[in-house]
Amino acid sequence: MMVAAFRDRASRRADALIDDPFAGSVCEAEGYAVADAITGYWPSCELYVALRTAYLDAQIAKWTAAGRVGQVVLLGAGLDMRAWRLPEGARVPFFEVDAPASQAYKRERVATLQLPTDRPGPTYVSCDFERDDFLDRLQARGFDRSVPALFVWEGVTMYLSEGAIDGTLTRVARDTDSRSLMCFDFVGKRMASGDRLRRHNVESRELVDGLDEPMVWGTNDILPHLHGAGFRFTRVVSFDQLALYFTGSYQRDREFRFQSMALAGVDPPELV
Ligand SMILES: C[S@@+](CC[C@H](N)C(=O)[O-])C[C@H]1O[C@@H](n2cnc3c(N)ncnc32)[C@H](O)[C@@H]1O
Repeated sequence: MMVAAFRDRASRRADALIDDPFAGSVCEAEGYAVADAITGYWPSCELYVALRTAYLDAQIAKWTAAGRVGQVVLLGAGLDMRAWRLPEGARVPFFEVDAPASQAYKRERVATLQLPTDRPGPTYVSCDFERDDFLDRLQARGFDRSVPALFVWEGVTMYLSEGAIDGTLTRVARDTDSRSLMCFDFVGKRMASGDRLRRHNVESRELVDGLDEPMVWGTNDILPHLHGAGFRFTRVVSFDQLALYFTGSYQRDREFRFQSMALAGVDPPELV
């Protein structure tokens, strides 16, 4: 809900980088309250959420338009409304994989909305990344392993064990079409461990931990994980680079050095 609240606010700005007209309807007051609290510690959190959503929206547009992928999978979808709000939602199948409780809440909220009629909406797949095989579950719900897919893993890796991270990356690299792509954000080791952070970083981390979804995983070098999983094409950008690209500005005090975005594939894409 906190992420949806930030997406709602980010969408309403005059200089908006994203447009999520549903975010405010799927999220309750509690989401805005947590967003307010975290903004007190980290004023750039709204921009951080907007940047990762803008970048991932652009990846979906780019790789579907290029014909590189024919399916989109949102891993740990939360209150993500891409299947309804992006034009690609009317063109290619979308799948939402999420923990059963998060998904049940999302489905309740979505059932109250007026939604576009030009698309079927996402196929829901419930799964715990720590215990279940997400790919078997996707296949059981109609995911076609012979069609390249874009896997979007937004705001999730920091809450999972290293085993679940490596297992998920490996399943995508080895067991889906070799033209599939995987795009996700991750945090640095110090942010995840809470080690040697400045006071306000510790406080904002503790606030997230208190939401029953503690931050547990981060890395300063994602390459060994991507290589180990079987990927060959990799690109990593920092959130400072994303901010510079999308806003034309750089401010060190945004504290974006703890976060990065990775794009990986087995077959190197034609368009780089
Ligand atoms: C911070 S939310 C991000 C949601 C969404 N991707 C977004 O950006 O709005 C984290 C998501 O990860 C999911 N998640 C966390 N641990 C999980 C697990 N072990 N298995 C499946 N999903 C998990 C939660 O259910 C939640 O939807």
